[in-house]
Amino acid sequence: MVFDTDSVVRTHFATQSISGGLHVAIIMDGNGRWAEARGLPRSAGHVAGAETVERIVAAAAALPIERLTLFALSADNWNRPAGEIDAILELMRVWLTSKTEECVANHVRLSVIGRRDRLPSPLVAAIEHAECATADQSKLHVRLAVDYSARDAIVRAARRFNVQAALDGARDGFERTLAVTCHANDLPRDVDLLVRTGGEQRLSDFLLWECAYAELFFSPRSWPDFTAADLEAALVEFRGRNRRFGGLSA
Ligand code: IPE
Ligand code: IPE
Ligand code: MG
Repeated sequence: MVFDTDSVVRTHFATQSISGGLHVAIIMDGNGRWAEARGLPRSAGHVAGAETVERIVAAAAALPIERLTLFALSADNWNRPAGEIDAILELMRVWLTSKTEECVANHVRLSVIGRRDRLPSPLVAAIEHAECATADQSKLHVRLAVDYSARDAIVRAARRFNVQAALDGARDGFERTLAVTCHANDLPRDVDLLVRTGGEQRLSDFLLWECAYAELFFSPRSWPDFTAADLEAALVEFRGRNRRFGGLSA
């Protein structure tokens, strides 16, 4: 992983007044269609997609992004053939195992949100190792959403919240519970920019709570073809948006 800063981008963002880094979330979609268009098995698309993850993490580290949440496997993806899911889970295990050291060297913290009880134990071990080894890194926090469903996270948090007697203040308390139930170990942080690749324009049960005021960016490009320049273009467009949060323009 090369953490190289493109000078054009650096100059562009250096001129912006950035207070704190952004939370960018990406629905990494289009791997299967990318492979099918090339006469390859869908699993080849996931392999190519894993390479894009590496490129985009490196690009994000050179941009004013503090948190990057990547949708890697949804809870509904269990509806796919077992062979495809097994290949994705194994790819994640290998990716986490092989990238952990580089992440430490580049000050990237890795964590995983979503359910773990349905994941193979070698993958859970790789997740725990990656989280533990990178826990002190603070340049960029990369979160992989694996077996993740936003509705499920909210429902489980609500159930847990209800049975807790100490309901000190509705929203803060609920967000803390949400953090615990989806294994994030961090308070939910609003997404600033949500990117979806692959041409679809939907949320597919990703970060519904955190995307309340996210700016949406849809790219027609498949995830394996998504580049650092595409991410930079999304950020440039984001900077041009007028975020009002229910109020009026400044
Ligand atoms: C996204 O790519 C990766 C996962 C959902 C795991 P897809 O596999 O959904 O690719 P398409 O949408 O079928 O092209
Ligand atoms: C969403 O993509 C999940 C991930 C990218 C991991 P899907 O391909 O599963 O979503 P739908 O089925 O098109 O909504
Ligand atoms: Mg898809």
